Amino acid sequence: MKNIVILISGRGSNMETVVRAAQAEQWPARIAAVISNRPDALGLAFADEHGIPTAVVANKEYPTREAFDAALRDVIDGYRPDLVVLAGFMRILTPAFVAHYEGRLLNIHPSLLPHFPGLHTHEQALASGMKEHGATVHFVTAELDHGPMVDQASVPVLPGDTAATLAARVLVQEHELYPRAIRWFIEDRLTIEHGKVHVDHSTKH
Ligand code: GAR
Repeated sequence: MKNIVILISGRGSNMETVVRAAQAEQWPARIAAVISNRPDALGLAFADEHGIPTAVVANKEYPTREAFDAALRDVIDGYRPDLVVLAGFMRILTPAFVAHYEGRLLNIHPSLLPHFPGLHTHEQALASGMKEHGATVHFVTAELDHGPMVDQASVPVLPGDTAATLAARVLVQEHELYPRAIRWFIEDRLTIEHGKVHVDHSTKH
């Protein structure tokens, strides 16, 4: 049984789909905890209702990024994680934090990386005139939104799209993409070679 700790900052819809997939597909894993940096994160209620331990480590209560990350790391490690999943976790993490979880820290980012790292990805996609947009699951490294990519899903950018309509179209894909990628990790199908992720699609698992 592997332990998954999920970090959120808000709505938590990606966390929800991971929880539901883990239950429905009977992953050999447990969602050990859902942790938020914001006490008002809506997703905490869903985790509570599903009997998943929750914790809040409020970044506002720490004077520095390093102090916050150290406190967050202590709380996460209390759950003995095999995998830490960032699901709409809107804090930039320090290199020391990222190094501590090297190879077991995944993020989902709402763009087709390497396009549009950072914030406001849907606005950036519209402004650039891209005909395709999407989402990427990647291992987290010290460089923001640049780690080895596990998988991507794309959607068309349609005439008349707003950031909201485009975000909604991407989110539907995120909800398929992230549980699938996490399941691959849980099933030990992912290896990183020369900075690139190899997915073992053989059926021996
Ligand atoms: C998702 O679209 C996720 O890709 C994005 O925030 C949203 C969270 O929604 N993450 C980032 O922008 C990370 N930089 P959710 O809370 O409903 O899962």
